[in-house]
Amino acid sequence: MHKAAVQNLDRPQDDEFLADVLYGLSQTQKQLPPKYFYDQKGSEYFDEICELSEYYPYRTELTMLRDVARDLGNHFAGLAPQGLEIVEFGAGSLRKVGALLTSLGNVRSFTAIDISEEHLINSCRLLESQYRELSIHPCVHDFTKPLTIHTSDRTRLGFFPGSTIGNFNPGEASEFLHNAGATLGTNSYLLIGVDTKKPEPILRQAYNDNKGITAKFNKNVLERINRELDGNFNPIHFAHHAFYNEPEGRIEMHLRSLKEQTIKIAGHNFEFHRGESIHTENSYKYSPDEFTSLAQESGWSKQHLWLDSDELFAVYLLQYVH
Ligand code: TRP
Repeated sequence: MHKAAVQNLDRPQDDEFLADVLYGLSQTQKQLPPKYFYDQKGSEYFDEICELSEYYPYRTELTMLRDVARDLGNHFAGLAPQGLEIVEFGAGSLRKVGALLTSLGNVRSFTAIDISEEHLINSCRLLESQYRELSIHPCVHDFTKPLTIHTSDRTRLGFFPGSTIGNFNPGEASEFLHNAGATLGTNSYLLIGVDTKKPEPILRQAYNDNKGITAKFNKNVLERINRELDGNFNPIHFAHHAFYNEPEGRIEMHLRSLKEQTIKIAGHNFEFHRGESIHTENSYKYSPDEFTSLAQESGWSKQHLWLDSDELFAVYLLQYVH
């Protein structure tokens, strides 16, 4: 992959990171945007999370994708005469799209959008060595923002796996779906993985693994602030705290201060009481009915729904009919 082939649309600048951190830590409930988890180190931790026995979403979805890909092959057989173009949002390590590329056969072009440049380029290089005929377009972009990509006559299939949609609140999720529709165009498709509602212990354990990898992933955002914004967090003075908020239908991740302390970031002071937390992420869980309505309100109609036999995870094929 040539460096020049990488579209770098709006890589978050240090000043945006700093502004977001200063703003978030000045709120009554301190908070940080989850997108800052994913520097090179955070992306590596995330890959480790996906291997954990407690973290059912990754392996469940990956297993489902084989069946999904076969069904999609049939679905698109007569529908995409020019071949397909896949656009993956938040592409990460690209370990899921392979199932589609292999089974769909007629995918001509693949655009991988991710915020973490180094990780994205390495992943695209690997994919390139496996699918030599495919034209691959890495695109460094914050997919929480609208995006314009090059157009072709091909049928477009967006791909948004991993229940990343759950990391938005429902309003933001709807906005994302609208933007994705505008990006991909009328009649395009979106294949999206969404975590389902299920008994609380299964949910809680998925975000509280025994090896403490999720805790390291969560705390990495503090170390990133230290590295990039001249902060002085000591991660051992914060504890990972993740729980299911039933009324909101979401897992919440926090970092809880273990003592009273003052943190300095780029010359600004932030006071923490003992027990006070920074809210670092939400992961919303949707029943099929809830998600189908959310998609519908955002211009997408449900074409198909796949659930695994334990109903741990859902994959939807949507079409933009706006
Ligand atoms: N979107 C997935 C989820 O919410 C993956 C994810 C994002 C995640 N941040 C995480 C998983 C933190 C574990 C911990 O499950």
